[in-house]
Amino acid sequence: MDKKELINSGKVKSVYNSTDDDKVIIEFRDDMTAGDGARKEVMANKGAYNAIISAKIFKVLEENGVETQFIELLEPNVMLAKKLEMIPIEVIVRNIATGSLVRKYPIADGTRLEPPIVQMDFKDDDYHDPMLNDSLIKALGIATQEEIEILTEKALKINEVLVKFFADAGIILVDFKVEFGKDMGGNILLGDEISPDGCRLWDSETLDMLDKELFRKGKDSEVMDAYVEVYNRIIPDSEKVI
Ligand code: TYD
Repeated sequence: MDKKELINSGKVKSVYNSTDDDKVIIEFRDDMTAGDGARKEVMANKGAYNAIISAKIFKVLEENGVETQFIELLEPNVMLAKKLEMIPIEVIVRNIATGSLVRKYPIADGTRLEPPIVQMDFKDDDYHDPMLNDSLIKALGIATQEEIEILTEKALKINEVLVKFFADAGIILVDFKVEFGKDMGGNILLGDEISPDGCRLWDSETLDMLDKELFRKGKDSEVMDAYVEVYNRIIPDSEKVI
């Protein structure tokens, strides 16, 4: 499978067409960004760690009945995936209140959220990703009511599977962001990535952060150790390629 032209260069990933019309090649770069891309650093091997972690999580989700765009890893930081037309919504699921939720609403940091909160933000850096609701999503023509319900149901299913998956690795899945897209047949599949870039992961014992929040807080020297810790805990030795 060969790379053709670049079709999208995001903050941390580059997406290329492939020789197969319905597949894309996603390169996970070593960039790390925060604040809508305002701060950017290069972290050695970060792309590979995130690609391998995402691939593992997508495989676990597929085994549990959640369709994803993942096909295979071509290289440690290069993923072959089904081509999707992405839906510009960041679906955020929260099990524990923290971050923007406690800044914007009167909920104490650390409050367990049962049932989990599902939040949808408009994926658009120019508008700083404002929060959406059903009427806004429909008014903007982003998705239909039926599609909103599919996204919600899929996000909650992903949460259910991953809370258990991470718990087995001694990690609390505090919250995370996912993105979906439509394949050529119009089916809604999980796309993008699930990695420490878009999840809050806390050590179950110490509650230490194991995700990009360290970088957001300026602890640049600790962030890769946290990603490697997540990798070591969830990737069996036989599957380690880095
Ligand atoms: P949230 O608390 O809304 O954001 P902030 O980091 O600004 O306090 O984040 C909830 C989760 O969703 C967190 O794990 C990070 C992830 N997320 C992203 O990956 N990208 C985003 O643009 C947003 C808003 C959240």
